[in-house]
Amino acid sequence: MSKVTISVIKADVGGYVGHSSMHPELIQKAEEQLSKARDQGKLLDFRVMHCGDDLELIMTHERGVENKDVHKLAWDTFVGATEVAKNLKLYGAGQDLLSDAFSGNVKGMGPGVAEMEFTPRKSEPIVVFMADKTSPGAWNLPFYRMFADPFNTAGLVIDPALHEGFKFRILDLKENKAVMFRCPEDLYDMLVFIGSPSRYAVMAVYRKKDDEIAGVASVQRLGYLAGRYIGKDDPVMIVRSQSGFPAIGEILEAFAFPHLVEGWMRGSHIGPLMPVGFQDAHPTRFDGPPRVIAAGFQINDGKLVGPRDMFADVSFDEARRQANFIAEYMRRIGPFEPHRLPLDEMEYTTLPQVMEKLAGRFESLG
Ligand code: F6R
Ligand code: MG
Ligand code: MG
Repeated sequence: MSKVTISVIKADVGGYVGHSSMHPELIQKAEEQLSKARDQGKLLDFRVMHCGDDLELIMTHERGVENKDVHKLAWDTFVGATEVAKNLKLYGAGQDLLSDAFSGNVKGMGPGVAEMEFTPRKSEPIVVFMADKTSPGAWNLPFYRMFADPFNTAGLVIDPALHEGFKFRILDLKENKAVMFRCPEDLYDMLVFIGSPSRYAVMAVYRKKDDEIAGVASVQRLGYLAGRYIGKDDPVMIVRSQSGFPAIGEILEAFAFPHLVEGWMRGSHIGPLMPVGFQDAHPTRFDGPPRVIAAGFQINDGKLVGPRDMFADVSFDEARRQANFIAEYMRRIGPFEPHRLPLDEMEYTTLPQVMEKLAGRFESLG
């Protein structure tokens, strides 16, 4: 078969209740719109899902990445869902749609986008990860684990098809510059950057021996786009698996340890990323803790066979238990760092007002 593109485009266009979850009518509305597009031949297939308050459009087609028609379709679908959200007076209706009119590409307009194009193998297993109450850098550690860490991915050591390693494309979110690292030889250099996920985020991973795309992430940061807090850039990621890529179990293993990520409560707190089944993708305690779901698919002639709910498995119970334990530990620190983000990284701040009010009370000590 010829090349297939998988586009995962997401936006928060209204929460139910508050920022916690998704009203079923938004999913219905998005399904209606994408069904029409599939019938008209614009898409090969699609699934509509949600993680917390984020509406996730998973689409396959033959139009390549950054295709105007596909992006317009996603945009129109979000606009349609926003109407439903407004009618129901859901919370923050249309919050991630930063512009009134579509201008050719949803990037920079609010929605998050992860897309990859490839020639499907005889059998093509992929996993789409979707997270809520966090930000794109949250994928740095799992990406590293999957594609560079031999303690996670046994194949890097013992499978000749993976042994050469992978290349990582990293984005400097502040300066909007990208840099490529080849692993394992550039590992230590790369960690200098990806160890700082609020500034640097993994955009894509390629297999070194043939440049085949292996993984891709949404790296849009709403904060940088809008210049002020207008919602979280809860990220998505697509990963290819098996036969020359990490096995499904190696990919999922990267989430068995609930690492700390940014984005909990008011986008201003750090908490553990909890891997959950679809049923539990509704951050509730202190608007969290941050969640990640994993939707597994087999691609069959461009059609999506799935999703299979990959974290709905008892082997992730311990990760969830640990995440709850860490969440409790972090909550006890309350308004102190490192639960609360450093002053200049918080999405909400009262600092300027408080500073102004107290200006006269600061005495210079030299
Ligand atoms: C975090 C998040 C929520 C909101 C919080 C306050 O990413 O979305 O924690 O920041 O519920 O929301 P507002 O300011 O809309 O009342
Ligand atoms: Mg929201
Ligand atoms: Mg969200």
